[in-house]
Amino acid sequence: MEAAVPVETYMSPRRSVAFIGSECYPFVKTGGLGDVMYALPKALVKQNCDVKVILPRYKCIPWEYQQKMIYRGSFTMDLCADGRSYYVGIMEYVWDGVVYDFIDNEEFFSSGNPYTNLIDDIPKYCYFAKAALAALNYMDWIPNIIHCHDWQAALVPVYLRTQFVNTKLTTAKTILTIHNLRFQGIYNIPTIRYWSGLPDYVFNKDALKTGYQDANMLKGGLAYSNIITTVSQTYAGEIQSAYYGETLDAHLRYHSGKLRGIVNGIDYDIWNPSTDARLYANYDITNVLDKKKENKRRLQEELGLVQDDHKFVIGLISRLTDQKGLDLVNAILPQVMDEHTQIVVLGTGDGVYEDSFRYYENAYKGNVCSNIMYDETRAHRIYAGADALLVPSRFEPCGLTQLIAMHYGTVPIVRETGGLKDTVEPYNMYFNTGNGFTFDRYDSGLLLDAINRAKTFYFENRWCWDEMVQRDMDKNLSWENSAKQYKDLYLDLTW
Ligand code: ADP
Ligand code: GLC
Repeated sequence: MEAAVPVETYMSPRRSVAFIGSECYPFVKTGGLGDVMYALPKALVKQNCDVKVILPRYKCIPWEYQQKMIYRGSFTMDLCADGRSYYVGIMEYVWDGVVYDFIDNEEFFSSGNPYTNLIDDIPKYCYFAKAALAALNYMDWIPNIIHCHDWQAALVPVYLRTQFVNTKLTTAKTILTIHNLRFQGIYNIPTIRYWSGLPDYVFNKDALKTGYQDANMLKGGLAYSNIITTVSQTYAGEIQSAYYGETLDAHLRYHSGKLRGIVNGIDYDIWNPSTDARLYANYDITNVLDKKKENKRRLQEELGLVQDDHKFVIGLISRLTDQKGLDLVNAILPQVMDEHTQIVVLGTGDGVYEDSFRYYENAYKGNVCSNIMYDETRAHRIYAGADALLVPSRFEPCGLTQLIAMHYGTVPIVRETGGLKDTVEPYNMYFNTGNGFTFDRYDSGLLLDAINRAKTFYFENRWCWDEMVQRDMDKNLSWENSAKQYKDLYLDLTW
């Protein structure tokens, strides 16, 4: 018997979309962009979209995926200002209704994990942006929408409206999604002009030019795309201010008419505590209280922490960079540590944070564990085994860790910024509502206060804490709502 097709699918007209970005789970992921590039296309298929995801074929993609890719064709493409030509191969992999086309070129994609440094990454993503469009032309797959992600794909709209204007692709509308405004792809104009081969006129102050002599790839993409989105409504407002605007606030204010915020979701197939094979014990909303204890005990055992059900275990899963508010954590960690508390950190990044967390692990042996590594399995186990998850970010476009935590019945403690503000409703003691504990200004004292409020609530009001755990698991954090909003945007653009 055929599976029933959701009514929605019949009602919403079909649209084709090319997703272009630099990372995608499970092939290559350094953060939330990788999650979104995987989950959103899948969710769009359910909204009656035909989706192709275009990615670089990095050497660091695990062999288990490389070996499943099928050669789809190849050609040569002019790139630089002097017309040097480069090989473009297309390797294809189809999975879960989504077609993944990997752009193959050893010269650009054999180093890095996947990023290296700007000197190498600038030419790499000039090549990638142009090759992605050239590959669509080569395959004669002309989508209604080309949806680009972050600075690495930001030249796509610029190429489309310059060097590809006389190709069939020119009918496509473009969307550029900002996942993180901090990274923009800035380098001196002669270098970017040379590698991109783009005409001189795009290097003007309304498009790529920034300051006196630099070119900014993201800025150019924002100017040339039909719509700009970012990953929460609050961040869409914040980036138009000087504090969060990363020097592009005036440019974003100028383009505010085409700027929208759509919050991320999480993929319920991957992040599902009742089926997650990486957990010690699976659970759902009916047995979370018992099973969480078991996950906590086994996590403590695996990490060499004191095994004690009664400890309040705080998790932190993060890239260890300035964005994530780790200076606040460092400043107050000794005050957080008492005989009732344990902290589990998982992350890699800036040396100064890696070292300070290693130091604290040593100073509080058995109660602090710093996992300075990238490890998917460990992440899943921490989401399941911790009582609370810390996300005190300086800025946070959306944030996925607080969403995953809630879905695993782990209470988030977050700063009220960007997507954290939009997704975590603060606990209200009068009405017994809310999903977590929050603080507003970027201040270590306020972070400590939020942690202490959570801790007191956990120890002195367990009944209400447990209700919050269940409320969090019950919250709808799936991609469905947001995918619908993207689909509506696609329809608006192509009506
Ligand atoms: P960002 O994209 O800014 O890094 P997000 O919260 O959007 O932040 O996404 C982070 C993603 O990366 C989540 O899926 C999180 O579980 C994962 N992650 C971050 N650090 C690690 C790590 N060290 N090991 C495993 N997963 C990690
Ligand atoms: C970025 C942001 C993060 C967001 C993710 C996915 O890396 O830092 O807040 O959740 O992209 O959109």
